[in-house]
Amino acid sequence: MIVLGVETSCDETAVAIVEDGKKILADVVYSQIDIHKLYGGVVPEIASRKHIAKIISVFDEAFKQAGIKASDIDLVAVTTHPGLIGSLLVGINAAYAFSLANNIPCIGVDHIYGHIYANYVSADFTFPTLALVVSGGHTELVLMKDHYDFNVLGETMDDAVGEAYDKVARVMGLAYPGGVKVDTLALEYQGKPIYHLPIYDSDDYNFSFSGIKSAVLNQINKCHMKGEDLNYHALSYAFQDSVTSVLVRKTIKAAIEYNVKQIIVAGGVAANKGLRARLTSAVASLDGVTLTFPEFRYCTDNAVMIAVAGYFQNKYGDKN
Ligand code: KG4
Ligand code: ZN
Repeated sequence: MIVLGVETSCDETAVAIVEDGKKILADVVYSQIDIHKLYGGVVPEIASRKHIAKIISVFDEAFKQAGIKASDIDLVAVTTHPGLIGSLLVGINAAYAFSLANNIPCIGVDHIYGHIYANYVSADFTFPTLALVVSGGHTELVLMKDHYDFNVLGETMDDAVGEAYDKVARVMGLAYPGGVKVDTLALEYQGKPIYHLPIYDSDDYNFSFSGIKSAVLNQINKCHMKGEDLNYHALSYAFQDSVTSVLVRKTIKAAIEYNVKQIIVAGGVAANKGLRARLTSAVASLDGVTLTFPEFRYCTDNAVMIAVAGYFQNKYGDKN
């Protein structure tokens, strides 16, 4: 089955063509980051307008890459939520127009399920699977006993982890999206820890990241008031250490409690090298549990993950 995926929920205009949930025939992503960078974050109205300007050429490029005709597509899958409403509407309209014009069925896909299925490109799922979802808008631990069967064990009570990374980057004067820059600074730091930030942990599977964000801000203000130079490498290291310790501890706890066979990591922060290293060494101590990350290019928004999720949603139905 050949699925055409369409993704326009935020600031990437993306179209992909994937066969049987695995074989990538086309993968086109037009990123608007350079425009939104000027404003320090995504400007919804600009994002919608850019999607309109780009969507047709991104469709055309995908068909050029795949070397197939519209009539070869069996199913269209488009992100319908969550996301910026004006941006989503562009992809939804393009996908439905394409499906009506070519008499091909069209289904709506949850963006978060798409991030989870980005892992399927790297490895098959062995259930029960535990997904640690760490995106710009969501932080969740999700238990999957079968395909398209999602049971949320816990989620963030306030900020998402990607959002916290971007806000911390912003107060350190780094350009949007700053998550990857904080990750790089943290990894480059070789000295002893200078800043000791609190760890916001709890006994359940929920998360909270607004406190650590304020702790970083307080540390910056304290240094400014005392006229001390801030060590941005050490501060990034302390922030990353605090955040990843909670993410990893809760993931391992849930993996043991629910006897999972596989842990997968989903969303933009799955690209975080500090999280990857820490989780890899923690999972090594678990017997019979494999760990899967999406390829770096499928961590952030793309349409391959929507086509893969659409393939499984069509096959197994949405059990939620
Ligand atoms: O999953 P995504 O596209 O967002 C939503 O769907 O909501 O991920 C974008 C987020 C941004 O917050 C970005 O800063 C973060 O992922 N991100 C990272 C890294 N790469 C991307 N955060 C921390 N470390 C990284 N290496
Ligand atoms: Zn996303």
